[in-house]
Amino acid sequence: MSRGGIIERYGDLLELGPLDPVISLEEGDTPLIQSHRLVEHCRLKIRLFFKFDGANPTSSFKDRGMTAAVSKAVSDGARAVVCASTGNTAASASAYAARAGVKSLVLLPGGNVALGKLAQSLMYGATVVAVDGNFDQALEAVKQLPDRFPLTIVNSINPNRIKGQMSAAFEVVDELNGSPDFHALPVGNAGNITATWRGYRKYQQVGKLRRLPIMLGFQAAGAAPIVDGHPIESPETIATAIRIGNPASWQGAVEAASDSGGHIEKVTDEEILEAYFLLAKTEGIFAEPASAASLAGVLKKARTGYFPFETRVVCTLTGNGLKDPDRAMTVETKMIETSGDLDSICKVIEEAL
Ligand code: F0G
Repeated sequence: MSRGGIIERYGDLLELGPLDPVISLEEGDTPLIQSHRLVEHCRLKIRLFFKFDGANPTSSFKDRGMTAAVSKAVSDGARAVVCASTGNTAASASAYAARAGVKSLVLLPGGNVALGKLAQSLMYGATVVAVDGNFDQALEAVKQLPDRFPLTIVNSINPNRIKGQMSAAFEVVDELNGSPDFHALPVGNAGNITATWRGYRKYQQVGKLRRLPIMLGFQAAGAAPIVDGHPIESPETIATAIRIGNPASWQGAVEAASDSGGHIEKVTDEEILEAYFLLAKTEGIFAEPASAASLAGVLKKARTGYFPFETRVVCTLTGNGLKDPDRAMTVETKMIETSGDLDSICKVIEEAL
């Protein structure tokens, strides 16, 4: 039996109106994994959970919003979709467009998209355009296109994306039987923290939740316009997914933090990488660098004694680490070459154990 996607599961709550057809790859229903070894390793006195949205069909959280945006677009008669992207939105848009049988066009910041994401868009048959500029410039260009071509934008400025992405909060509440005390996310274009907060509020409105969580958003230090209080012209971070200087949902992120009593803060690339490697080594969870920004932020705040004892903290891990093999191969652990005879293999094993 099909498990269905988020539209089948949460239909009315998403307020998408009538859809025909629903374009789904059975997204959502991703694992909520409790941390055991990482909390012990870092001596954290909290109950920490990872919402691993890298387990979605195109390996990032974008699929939650894309099923909504593409279903709506196709139901309204669209023949082609377009987005600007640091890679994951593009991969997701291209996949859902392929599933729907419509064209997709994606504009990427040239030279700054992780290899796996680029491969995905090409595989799904998108027209992939590299822009000699950053994400913000690509998004500005995308905004002009529907005036000239019959294209529907599926960036998170399309409200249906935000609606679909509310489903992550629903799933967390359903699984924890209530909200966590804190929910931490990486912040790039700021759609996901906006959507997750709206999801919690929606669940409260319909009586499925009493107490709301405190929202924590983390930007990369070199791409932290919200924290710094002004757009960043040339954002820089190894976490290319969140290399964004002028987020479209800026206001939504500020509201999520302030209305919930939370914060938007920044983490350095070193802190992001520490969390990225730690997560894989201590929990067996391989998330992409941008995803690790949520954990990096939680570790940083935990060190200042911010979290009460035994408090429940959820970190959204937004994308699968396999998307960025080049970054992963910078890990200290290296492959050991042997001649292939049993003796040389045994020698390596002896040293490893
Ligand atoms: N993590 C990953 C892996 C992402 O791909 C993104 C955004 C974020 C976090 C930040 O989420 O933008 O909602 O604040 N990626 C977009 C893209 C910008 O084009 O794929 P956000």
